[in-house]
Order: sequence, then structure tokens, then C-alpha cells
Amino acid sequence: MLNLLLLVLTTSWPPAASGQDASSATVSPLNTHCNATAGTNHTAGSAYLSNLRALGGALSRRALATGFASGSYGAAPDEVHGLVLCRGDFTGGNCTDGLASAFRDAAAQFCPGAADATVYYDQYMIRYTNDGRLLSDPGDNEPLWSGKNMNEVTGADAAARFMAKATELMNRTADLAAFGSPPSSSSPSRYATGETWFDEQGVSVVYGLVQCTPDLTGEQCRSCLAGIIAQMPKLFGDASSRPVGGRILGVRCNLRYEKDVFFKETSTTIKLNMPKSMSSSR
Ligand SMILES: *[C@@H]1O[C@H](CO)[C@@H](O)[C@H](O)[C@H]1NC(C)=O
Ligand SMILES: *[C@@H]1O[C@H](CO)[C@@H](O)[C@H](O)[C@H]1NC(C)=O
Ligand SMILES: *[C@@H]1O[C@H](CO)[C@@H](O)[C@H](O)[C@H]1NC(C)=O
Ligand SMILES: *[C@@H]1O[C@H](CO)[C@@H](O)[C@H](O)[C@H]1NC(C)=O
Repeated sequence: MLNLLLLVLTTSWPPAASGQDASSATVSPLNTHCNATAGTNHTAGSAYLSNLRALGGALSRRALATGFASGSYGAAPDEVHGLVLCRGDFTGGNCTDGLASAFRDAAAQFCPGAADATVYYDQYMIRYTNDGRLLSDPGDNEPLWSGKNMNEVTGADAAARFMAKATELMNRTADLAAFGSPPSSSSPSRYATGETWFDEQGVSVVYGLVQCTPDLTGEQCRSCLAGIIAQMPKLFGDASSRPVGGRILGVRCNLRYEKDVFFKETSTTIKLNMPKSMSSSR
């Protein structure tokens, strides 16, 4: 497998507001990655652009059922490969409307002319390229993007306790996303959420979410998530202070945790370290 250049960009965002339900077609991306070195620049009227439009329409429609679709359109040298993924709690028409807009905006506005683009939104992502390895090599999670909450847990001891809890939360939700509950139960969705008790410095609970593209096997999914979980210590703060939230988004898997709830809780949301008085729901 060819190792592509590791690309990690970092930004900050204000504390997460919970309960956002933006479903309009003008949602701003978190990050846009245009790969200008990826060969042919497509132009108005080019075969590549028309294949890209057709692929974007087809993938957006096909994602209606499961929140995921991948495929190729056209013939070499103008063949386009792509994939789309909706967050596990944001599927259906709201997501597919967003995906269709994302393809239009990427080609017209974010990455005009680029054959290869990745656009990450809060609740979905699109990726397209002229490089067939996108679909033949599901082990490639790049380009990666990461961001962190501006609020922090400070002090070496508290920061270490916070990262241990956040990492445990990510590990356990990753197991659930990859292998289901109980392990190897029927067709895990490759999406899982969880919560862990922390109760220091105004952070009572840490909420977490992980997801892989559902075409990965359980082992591929777990290994992809292990790869981004392992990057948390260096991307999120240092030994003396750790942000109370962060996310790492890749093409094949992603993670996020926050001190405020940011996903739709369900009966499968796992609960860790909860005091007895709060763990009655599970
Ligand atoms: C950009 O595209 C080129 C050509 O396809 C590829 O070799 C390179 O790895 C790509 N870079 C990234 C960051 O995807
Ligand atoms: C492709 O287009 C972009 C934006 O128009 C431009 O910056 C870039 O130099 C072009 N690359 C090639 C190989 O023509
Ligand atoms: C889109 O989201 C809104 C708000 O959450 C919801 O009421 C509506 O049913 C959703 N529409 C579709 C097509 O999923
Ligand atoms: C999380 O899992 C990794 C291996 O995948 C392990 O090295 C680490 O100790 C685990 N951390 C916690 C807090 O569970």
C-alpha cells in the first residue's frame, strides 16, 4: 500500500451548541481539502466535470437508504471515483440534500478545477478523485482534519484523568461500532455513541461518537479508529491542559467527543463510569 502524505490541519471552534438541526442547503463546511496536484484540471464542459456531476447526483441519491454510498462514473482518463457518508444520527433526505449541495459547491466554489477534493461538514462528508485507490484501498483514511474545543481542563493531574476517560470512551465506542453489541451481532452500522462520567472543572459528562464507512470490515473499522484515537494526545493539548472537546475526521473513519451532548442519544448509547444514581437507564 502506498503511504500518502499525512495531512493534519487544526482549527478551533467555540463550545458546541447542542440541538443544532441545520438542514438547509447552505451549510458551511468544517474543512475543504482540494488536491491541485491530482492531475487533470477539469473545466466547464469537460468530460471529467460532467462525470463528476453525474457521480455526485448518483451517490447523493443512493445514500438515502443507509447514509453511505461509493462508486465510480465514466471511463478513463475521465473516470471519477467517490464516496459519501452521513453521520449515523443524520440520515435520510436532510443528509442527501446536503450531499447534493456539497458536490455542486465543491466543483463550483470550493475546489474549482480540482480533480480531487474532500469536504467535511458537521454531519456528512464527500470525497471524489481521479485516483482509483480511493475504492480499492479502504485502509487509506487521508486527508485527515482535526479541530478542538477552546475550553480546557487544566492542571496535569486533571488533564491526565480527562484524557484517560476520553480515550476509554473512544476505545469502547470504537469496539461497539466495529463489532456490535454483543460482539459480532448482526451487521453493526459502524456508528456508535457513548458517555462517560468525569465530574471535574464543570465537565460532568463527556459525550463521544465514532463512525466508519460501513463498507469496512469490523477489523478494518477498529484499526482505522485505533489509528485516529492514537493521535488524540498530540493533537489535543499537552500534559498540562486538554481541550474538553475534539474531533478527528478522516475519509474512512472519524471520532468526536465534547462536554455537551451533540448527537441523538439512543438505547445503544453506552454509559461508562456513571454514578449509581445516574446509571438506571442502562
Ligand atoms: C494528491 O493527488 C496526487 C495525485 O493523484 C496523489 O499522489 C497525492 O497523494 C494526493 N495528495 C493527497 C494529500 O491526497
Ligand atoms: C488547476 O487549476 C487551479 C485553479 O484554477 C490552478 O491553480 C492550477 O495551477 C491548475 N493546475 C494545472 C496543473 O493546470
Ligand atoms: C429533516 O430534519 C428535520 C428536523 O430534525 C425533521 O423534522 C425532518 O423530518 C427531516 N427530514 C427528512 C426528510 O429526513
Ligand atoms: C485504548 O486502546 C489502546 C489500544 O487500542 C490502548 O493502548 C489504550 O491503553 C486504551 N486506553 C484506554 C484508556 O482504554
